[in-house]
Amino acid sequence: MEHQKPKDQLNRPLRDLRLSVTDKCNFRCQYCMPAEIFGPDYPFLPQNQLLSFEELTRLSKVFVSLGVEKIRITGGEPLMRRELPNLIHMINQIPGVKDIAMTTNGSLLTKYAHGLAQAGLNRVTISLDSLDEDRFADMNGRGYAVQTVLDGIEAAEQAGLGIKINMVVQKGKNDQDILPMAKYFKDKGHTLRFIEYMDVGNTNGWKLDHVYPSRDIVQIIDQQYPLEAVEPHYYGEVANRYRYKGTNTEIGFISSVTEAFCSTCTRARVSAEGKMYTCLFASSGYDLRSRLRSQDSDQMIATYIRDIWGQRHDQYSVDRVKQTRTNKKTKKVEMSHIGG
Ligand code: GTP
Ligand code: 5AD
Ligand code: SF4
Ligand code: SF4
Repeated sequence: MEHQKPKDQLNRPLRDLRLSVTDKCNFRCQYCMPAEIFGPDYPFLPQNQLLSFEELTRLSKVFVSLGVEKIRITGGEPLMRRELPNLIHMINQIPGVKDIAMTTNGSLLTKYAHGLAQAGLNRVTISLDSLDEDRFADMNGRGYAVQTVLDGIEAAEQAGLGIKINMVVQKGKNDQDILPMAKYFKDKGHTLRFIEYMDVGNTNGWKLDHVYPSRDIVQIIDQQYPLEAVEPHYYGEVANRYRYKGTNTEIGFISSVTEAFCSTCTRARVSAEGKMYTCLFASSGYDLRSRLRSQDSDQMIATYIRDIWGQRHDQYSVDRVKQTRTNKKTKKVEMSHIGG
């Protein structure tokens, strides 16, 4: 199946597909799934509303025919989905898939890292916001220990997976962890990326004052451990990259608030229930599940997706500044539905 590769209204190709495989998570990070809202009675999606592995694989094939080369598995916490290595194996069989990655909180990796690597997963990105036990327990909302995640990272390394660490920095919450995190992962030789806290979803009470601008973090680290800038690896890379001088260890900065990177955004997202979103901040998605469950051919689904991409003009982060000024609020999709 070959198709004309679409470009959107801002001339951006479709390169990355981010598949959410579950809306559930064993953590309750305040900024993503606050426990007050995502409580015991929260209506998570029932199994029959989730895309099956066969549906996810079929969809991946269609996306690859439209230009996708990189597939990222997200959640919620993707390892809450049973038999996940089977899905990785199925996606790994698709010709044209160059890179399969997963975003995870790391807490279940000791159990699954090996099987995931064997199934064909190339890399994991592990979220970790603090090395301080109390702060980490508080931030993950479920009292998980730092060591659980560090063990997960170790297991991923043993399994031969590529590793990146993501730290969301919130001013007044975990900014004192910036240097300890930098030192720890510099010594380990893993790439740590600092993410500016974003106004995703509708529940995290985001304020611009909570954002710690990347350029300030670069300064803090550079004073202690001198840095040099590194050229981007590929078109549309979200992180600005640096290297600790005299080493091969890199760190990255994802500055979606202070330096929007929409102009090169090549990412399509599909929620666990099979809705396609053309932006992390979209208020609604396009229903792919009903098409997958109808008589539509792959060709018809490809045409549908190509048309959606062709009409796309999202650039929320570029527009955010204006919105913050006028204080206008729109309803957005929850981060736990599309996995960041
Ligand atoms: P690599 O393939 O390793 O370069 O990964 P990546 O940087 O594309 O993906 P990752 O999931 O690690 O992204 C890290 C974080 O950057 C996400 O959790 C989001 O917080 C943020 N992010 C990623 N993509 C976007 C995007 O399209 N828009 C915005 N605003 N933020 C994004
Ligand atoms: N701002 C920035 N990053 C976020 N993530 C979750 N919520 C936010 C937010 N409000 C990150 C997580 C993880 C990835 C899935 O998205 O820390 O790295
Ligand atoms: Fe779970 Fe990740 Fe959201 Fe935290 S940020 S609640 S680990 S999905
Ligand atoms: Fe892409 Fe939307 Fe993020 Fe901009 S805000 S980089 S358009 S997902």
